[in-house]
Amino acid sequence: MSNWTDVAAEADLFEGAGIPVSPGGRDIALFAVEGEVFATDNLCTHGNARLCDGFVEGHEIECPFHQGRFDLRTGEATLPPCTQPIKVWPVKVEGGRVFLSLG
Ligand code: FES
Repeated sequence: MSNWTDVAAEADLFEGAGIPVSPGGRDIALFAVEGEVFATDNLCTHGNARLCDGFVEGHEIECPFHQGRFDLRTGEATLPPCTQPIKVWPVKVEGGRVFLSLG
């Protein structure tokens, strides 16, 4: 059984940028792309950068430090210097709220 945690209002998200949320002390970034919401670990796997401060290009997030990239849908590293994937979290949007399955 999934446990869904309410982390944000859908209205807090906007296209082209990420916002940080910290359910249970985790550091997670939410992104809205073409009306869909994606959640990833906020910390870049290459260094100490927060992806919520990066730039969204299509379905990719560009790290603000060295411009490496990850696919927001899979977490896959798509551009060096990033090579390790980031974790992605299941998301559902219901009644104007964003929920994550953190199980
Ligand atoms: Fe993210 Fe280097 S810290 S690309």
